[in-house]
Amino acid sequence: MVGRVWPRHCHRGRPLNSVVRRHRTVIAYSDSLEGLDASSLDGFLAHWDFTPPEGTLLTMLRQSTSVILARDSSSSRICGYVAALSDGIACGYISALEVRPEFRGRGIGTALLGQMTDRLNVFGVYLSCAPSMREFYAARGFSSVAAMCKRRKAQEHGNDA
Ligand SMILES: CC(C)(COP(=O)(O)OP(=O)(O)OC[C@H]1O[C@@H](n2cnc3c(N)ncnc32)[C@H](O)[C@@H]1OP(=O)(O)O)[C@@H](O)C(=O)NCCC(=O)NCCS
Repeated sequence: MVGRVWPRHCHRGRPLNSVVRRHRTVIAYSDSLEGLDASSLDGFLAHWDFTPPEGTLLTMLRQSTSVILARDSSSSRICGYVAALSDGIACGYISALEVRPEFRGRGIGTALLGQMTDRLNVFGVYLSCAPSMREFYAARGFSSVAAMCKRRKAQEHGNDA
């Protein structure tokens, strides 16, 4: 199915398995992890403050409740993903959202966020972000809430990915 161009600042997502033409690139969105291997995800997680072991992202995606992948249709390359954990009713947590640098600024991050929010279909969708990202999420319908968190230091992470 070929969809119409989706406005950049639209809050709502498109149905899964749709494609969006943008900047002469056709982006396909899908929730299937079939055939996905660690090498297709090379280069992601570069924004982490430590380098995780190979295969970490693949393990994270496989263990998430919901994942949506954005793929450049011409090359089949994965250009972005969003992952979430959810109880299916009250609470969904968007645990990861990333777009490859060369694909940024084309609405792919917004599309992934909107599709995942719609798909979770829970009372509250939560996420945590750096202060610099607040504006991005606020412009897409999210508001700040008080949150508590206990984080492990990078060196305390196991290498079991
Ligand atoms: C955040 C991210 C997913 C956005 O993806 P994208 O496809 O470029 O998003 P869109 O094209 O839909 O929107 C781009 C907007 O994000 C904003 N943005 C991107 N990175 C940002 C940052 N670090 N801080 C603040 N705003 C940022 C851009 O300024 C742009 O704003 P505009 O819509 O007002 O022009 C992408 O920049 C990314 O992967 N960053 C590294 C990983 C990351 O930080 N993930 C979020 C974890 S909370």
